[in-house]
Amino acid sequence: MSQDLTGRVAIVTGAGRGLGQAYSLALAKAGARIVAADVIDSSETVEQVSAIGGEAIAVSADVTSTEQMNDMARSAVDAFGRIDILVNNAALYGGLSKMSSMLDLSEDEWDTVMDINVKGVWKAARAVVPQMSQQKYGKIINISSGTIFMGMPGLMHYVTSKGAVWAMSRVMSRELGPAGIRVNCVTPGFTMTQASEDLMTKAGNTDTKQRVASMSPLGRSQQEDDLTGTIVFLSSVASDFITGQTLNVDGGVTHG
Ligand SMILES: NC(=O)c1ccc[n+]([C@@H]2O[C@H](COP(=O)([O-])OP(=O)(O)OC[C@H]3O[C@@H](n4cnc5c(N)ncnc54)[C@H](O)[C@@H]3O)[C@@H](O)[C@H]2O)c1
Repeated sequence: MSQDLTGRVAIVTGAGRGLGQAYSLALAKAGARIVAADVIDSSETVEQVSAIGGEAIAVSADVTSTEQMNDMARSAVDAFGRIDILVNNAALYGGLSKMSSMLDLSEDEWDTVMDINVKGVWKAARAVVPQMSQQKYGKIINISSGTIFMGMPGLMHYVTSKGAVWAMSRVMSRELGPAGIRVNCVTPGFTMTQASEDLMTKAGNTDTKQRVASMSPLGRSQQEDDLTGTIVFLSSVASDFITGQTLNVDGGVTHG
């Protein structure tokens, strides 16, 4: 079954850097036109897509704003006429102030994490559903995290938010399935993005990459491209009878 995305339109939130940028490029390589949405400048992502002969637009959009999410969906339809795929990737991860025990976590940061990582996923999905329903077809991929299986210490707010994304995906799949919208969840393992490097530096952990690599049966650390094949698969017709599922992509570090 084909994983060709020619004619498809994909919105990727948090597309300005890191994994969101990698997903945008991979989806474009498979033929999709890309709406790269982020609070930071996504023009580098658009340039990378253009460089491989693809089409993309950058949209400045904060997932915590209902209005900006609706504008994002409108921009996608104005530019490309439809919305087939939403990769709900934006999150407060690299931007977390530090790692700290549950006893020391700031209540303000807890609320911000929930606002972006949980409500943001809901708001972005809510904004694209009317268009996808009209098309009677859509794919929503919610990015959770393998930390929900490990219970990563020092990140209780983040881990809790990603647990909510996992749970929310199940509700979404049941509510949106009748409209032809498939909703799945991906739990990436610890991946060597700039955000991961920044977070580990803040925590004073210099050996995390090696420690995680030693926990994988495949014996190496996870790179951005280890996730892109799964995102393309879940975006394509090849996965059309898969919904409400969680794909754990972590080189076998956990068993989901
Ligand atoms: N890197 C990892 O090890 C890892 C592992 C598991 C899950 N994840 C998840 O993958 C995703 C990407 O991770 P990354 O490593 O590229 O981290 P990152 O911090 O670089 O990416 C997050 C992106 O979201 C954007 N963003 C933040 N707040 C936003 C908002 N309010 N509205 C719109 N965009 C906003 C950021 O600007 C950034 O581009 C995140 O959801 C993260 O939780 C990452």
